[in-house]
Amino acid sequence: MSQPGPINRRRFLGLGVCTLGAAYLGRRSLAAFAPPLVEFSLVARAQRVQLAGHPASLITYNGLVPSPRLEFRPGDTVRVHFHNQLGEATNLHFHGLHVSPQGHGDNVFLHISPGERFTYEFTLPENHPAGLFYYHPHLHGRVAEQVFRGLGGMLVVRGDIDEIPAVKSAREEFLFLKDFALDNQGEIIPPTPAERMNGQEGSLVTANGQVNPTWTIPQGGLVRLRILNGSRARFYRLALQGHPLYLIATDGRALAKPVELQELLLAPAQRAEVLIQGNQPAGNYRLMDLPYDRGGMMTRPQAAPILIATLSYRGSVPPLSLPTELIPVSPVPEPTRVRQIKFSMGMGGMGTMDGMGGMNSMMGMNGGSPMRFLINDRTFDPNRVDALVKLGTVEEWELMNVDPDHMDHVFHIHTNQFQITHRNGVPEPYLAWRDIALMRGGETVRIRIPFRDFPGRTVYHCHTLDHEDLGMMGVVEMKA
Ligand code: C2O
Ligand code: CU
Ligand code: CU
Repeated sequence: MSQPGPINRRRFLGLGVCTLGAAYLGRRSLAAFAPPLVEFSLVARAQRVQLAGHPASLITYNGLVPSPRLEFRPGDTVRVHFHNQLGEATNLHFHGLHVSPQGHGDNVFLHISPGERFTYEFTLPENHPAGLFYYHPHLHGRVAEQVFRGLGGMLVVRGDIDEIPAVKSAREEFLFLKDFALDNQGEIIPPTPAERMNGQEGSLVTANGQVNPTWTIPQGGLVRLRILNGSRARFYRLALQGHPLYLIATDGRALAKPVELQELLLAPAQRAEVLIQGNQPAGNYRLMDLPYDRGGMMTRPQAAPILIATLSYRGSVPPLSLPTELIPVSPVPEPTRVRQIKFSMGMGGMGTMDGMGGMNSMMGMNGGSPMRFLINDRTFDPNRVDALVKLGTVEEWELMNVDPDHMDHVFHIHTNQFQITHRNGVPEPYLAWRDIALMRGGETVRIRIPFRDFPGRTVYHCHTLDHEDLGMMGVVEMKA
């Protein structure tokens, strides 16, 4: 193991509790001269926990659901002592971070066997954006189930946006959204063939592992709500009674200025930060998840709104105002290369998939090859490079959802964030950095990706995790 700094200058991460009840790994000591090494242990294991008042057999990192929140700064070297105590292989992914995808870094091709220990280590560039990121397992074929059983947590990078006075004056709250399907014994219910195809959802919808937690706002005050969709497949269409949401950051980076929203749609793994103004009569206001139809012939869209959390007025402060400017966002320059990336499903590919036999007979495809989720008509192969890109260039990817079943798909690429330029030919209303792009059935979404800094192989895929596990993933290789 390399030694970036002497032991007495390391910062270890300990446990703490935030107001909505989620535990986090925060900095235990922070001297002004502290060099940037953050070191901690993560242990993945199966255990019985209390989840929103229900006993549940889940899998956790360090015993916690949601997993502990991690906090880093630009320039930090991060060292994670990972121990796999699950009865099956797994690995770690640091979703959205701009760090090396190679070696002991954010390498999703690693296979950490049961009982094995592995030390991850990577360094965030000094200019790494501040924002909200996500860590979760990423072993192909096992991702959906391991996430659904409980693995996954928030990862915060502190920096410029946190220092903007109007943002700093807001009360910071975190909302980690995740649904579970539990039977009467508290065991996770496996997906039916149709759920496997559509992406499994559960009826227990939690925020920070609770049903309807409350957070408070002072009259005149501001709340900065940092939201992550940690679900396997469920989307959230959020609206707060009586209050608009002022979007200040998307997947991992600030906007140039706040954007007023009446509702906020979050696909799996998508993040958003919103400011809420405490300018309504004192009382309780409900944050609701409104019905949303992900498409697909066999999905049963949620019929009624679901209560996610409650905002409660408490006390008052001299009125705070919203920020007018945040962090400038410059447009990504013209691309040097354009690619078409088509998302579909169909028969064929190679191998057999567990659980798909039932699907095939259900769909009247007796004995045929299994249903696969495809990118450019191919199913995932870790040994094939689907997109070879030159480091230091910008590419435009035309993401086309040509799914015959008209189901939503959720594009995600590792290592480099992108900007959406057009959706169905219509220019995007504002510039934003993202690592998730929702493609509704039939849509074409154009994005520009600057491939910067890090060479190596990594992946892009649908973040409806069942689809990723069923092959909707490709390999990108970044070469100098
Ligand atoms: Cu959230 Cu490939 O990851
Ligand atoms: Cu990712
Ligand atoms: Cu998909």
